[in-house]
Amino acid sequence: MNNHTQLAQIGVIGLGVMGKNLALNIADNNYKVAVFDLDNQKVSAALAQEQLERPQSKPARMHACNNLSEMLANLTSPRVIVLSIPAGAPVDGVCQGLIEAGIEQQDIVVDTGNSLWTDTVEREKQYKNNFKFFSSAVSGGEVGARFGPSLMPSGDASAWEFVAPIWQAIAAKVDPETGLPIERFEPGNPVTEGEPCTTYIGPAGSGHYVKMVHNGIEYADMQLICEAYQLLHDGLGMSAYDIGNVFKQWNQGSLNSYLMGISAEVLQQADPMTGKPLVEMILDKAGQKGTGLWTAVSSLQIGCPAPTIAEAVYARAVSTQKSLRKQLQHKLLGPSEAPLAEHDKASFIAQLEDALYCAKVCSYAQGFQLMAMTAKEQGWSLNFAEIAKIWRAGCIIRATFLQSITEAYQQDADIANLLMADSFSQSLSLKQGNWRKTVAASILSGIAIPCISSAVAYYDSYRSETLPANLLQGQRDFFGAHTFERIDKPAGEKYHVDWSHLQRALTKVN
Ligand code: 6PG
Repeated sequence: MNNHTQLAQIGVIGLGVMGKNLALNIADNNYKVAVFDLDNQKVSAALAQEQLERPQSKPARMHACNNLSEMLANLTSPRVIVLSIPAGAPVDGVCQGLIEAGIEQQDIVVDTGNSLWTDTVEREKQYKNNFKFFSSAVSGGEVGARFGPSLMPSGDASAWEFVAPIWQAIAAKVDPETGLPIERFEPGNPVTEGEPCTTYIGPAGSGHYVKMVHNGIEYADMQLICEAYQLLHDGLGMSAYDIGNVFKQWNQGSLNSYLMGISAEVLQQADPMTGKPLVEMILDKAGQKGTGLWTAVSSLQIGCPAPTIAEAVYARAVSTQKSLRKQLQHKLLGPSEAPLAEHDKASFIAQLEDALYCAKVCSYAQGFQLMAMTAKEQGWSLNFAEIAKIWRAGCIIRATFLQSITEAYQQDADIANLLMADSFSQSLSLKQGNWRKTVAASILSGIAIPCISSAVAYYDSYRSETLPANLLQGQRDFFGAHTFERIDKPAGEKYHVDWSHLQRALTKVN
């Protein structure tokens, strides 16, 4: 491919599962794509798949490059090069390689990995004299990458102009009438109708930040479903298969989501080796790559309460400490009875469905508030209705529920917290009784449901005008002279009590 008419419109570096599928998706949408990977086998596999899936009447749309210089020589200008490589040092390694290969200032490098957003901010500055460092977080796993992911691009707006048509073509699509995904998983027959699940998020780093919070919500969503599974399994003694049926039924209602659907499938899968439910043969130690942790850290740093997301990260941490859990199982007493066994199964399942819904609303409320607070701090102007819209299809947390979030932000773009939206405050007010009953039953039966229960505390804290932080301020002033404000004096006026003297005089501090 060395004459001008055959130049590719986009390059993809890194042909792991995500990179290969993104490249195939781009090719399916009639773009010529140049590909490169250090591993020749991955290159051959991608080319072979493209050839296999392409109708014979169509010309090849994927071209392999032997090195970065060859890729640069085979792209139209400005070059658009997508990186699908592990986050961290490899991104800088490839960027340096591209500089050595002669990349030019107007060229665009799009990082699609799960990079730490602050690294993305730094990279845009670091490479600005060499090329435009752009980023676009991708959600949807391998199937999403192949047939329509949710894409969260950010960075130099002039770069977005060149990336946008390709991104709009390859993104997942939503039916504008119903807000539901239009799904077709057919090679060579991409979905071209509907609203694409991509929108320009904002300046450098904002797309990766939004994706990071997406993943924090994903952690909470997954853990909430796991807690429901444990209550039904250990509490009510239901089989994995039957729980799968409960999840399938929930998936028809307000809890409809991709994660609920796949959880039902996992629960109903038999282990090919033993014939038992596969889930019971899977070791209960959860892995993580860090994005949920980053979300929790960010919430702590900025002072945005996100306990349900943080508890989901802790739940993964405690799961990995299996040997300690094993020892403590025999050391720490739990309740003597198993009160869940006395519950009427159908009514407990109905209660749990409400509890799950309420906790889910809280975790999304936490995630969106976190994005809003960080956006304010960073000077980003994020459009939350658009963000909720592009999560309605393609991404891992896609759910019918996101349509209600979209509408809440369409009604009030500056809503401080989703709990303020009438649609959510009303449904939570209605369901909170069942939520509390579920948490009470779980505590009495000794089954930990950290996400569902922490969300109740979040809800109750936010509906309390007064909190015991008055006493806390008194404590701080007592041991550290940290001062306090008074309810009957102007905000910002600081007072201190001289706790060491009998008279304990109150002074106004300047
Ligand atoms: C997605 C996923 C994807 C991935 C993460 C989370 O949106 O497609 O979030 O990015 O699954 O890496 O993985 P961990 O659970 O390993 O942290």
